[in-house]
Amino acid sequence: MNMLRILTFLALCLSLACGGDSEPEPVETTEPTEGAEADPVESDPTTSGVRTRDPSEIPVAPKPWDEMTPEEKGHFMGESVLPYMKELFAEYDSEEFGNMNCGTCHGPDMQARNFEMPAPSLPPLHPSGSDEQRQMVEEHPQMVRFMFNHVVPAMRTMIGEEEYDAETGEGFSCYFCHPHAEDVGE
Ligand code: HEC
Ligand code: HEC
Repeated sequence: MNMLRILTFLALCLSLACGGDSEPEPVETTEPTEGAEADPVESDPTTSGVRTRDPSEIPVAPKPWDEMTPEEKGHFMGESVLPYMKELFAEYDSEEFGNMNCGTCHGPDMQARNFEMPAPSLPPLHPSGSDEQRQMVEEHPQMVRFMFNHVVPAMRTMIGEEEYDAETGEGFSCYFCHPHAEDVGE
């Protein structure tokens, strides 16, 4: 096998979980990561019910995020982030999110806060492994799956952030949007 073949084979193995017995892998993984704050809802076989997007379907900012002005970011948000996310959220719950707009993420006071994130209007999240976090996952199993499997990878890709790295604490996490519970005194 040449190198490319080997790599392709490895990639297939990763996506299809080659090797071992032929137990089918669930389409939606619930693998937890520190930054994602999502404990697997192991006993709950449901999924969020949202179609898994191919990464090529996700829009990407035209320039490195750090080099964009707030105006350029806002423009990209209106042109690409909102339409994509609106479709995604509506697929999850059209009644709740059919009218998604900038304020769904940024909060009602977004203009006064210059669209700064995280948004105080979003529910604060507790650290991985805490009792409060476990309770949150138990109370919102589908929402957590939706966030972890769809919202996080989409937002991360759109602004060109790295995946969360638990060792360095760097990369994209739930906390780009949600406040830390400790910071708001909860
Ligand atoms: C799905 C959630 C989501 C939606 C919807 C959304 N945004 Fe954002 N927006 C974000 C996130 C996350 C960031 C912060 C990225 C980062 O950390 O730099 C951001 C950043 C911004 C910034 C840059 C703020 C800064 O600090 O420089 C502006 C401006 C902005 N958004 C405007 C908008 C506008 C206008 C809309 C509606 C057309 C919108 N956003 C819709 C999630 C969202
Ligand atoms: C791109 C921004 C963004 C990211 C990243 C994000 N969320 Fe969310 N989250 C939202 C929005 C928007 C809502 C809907 C708020 C509403 O109902 O108006 C939400 C709602 C939730 C809710 C529902 C709370 C409730 O009371 O109904 C939970 C739980 C949640 N998120 C957990 C997470 C977790 C865990 C992660 C990381 C795996 C995460 N979120 C990442 C934007 C985000």
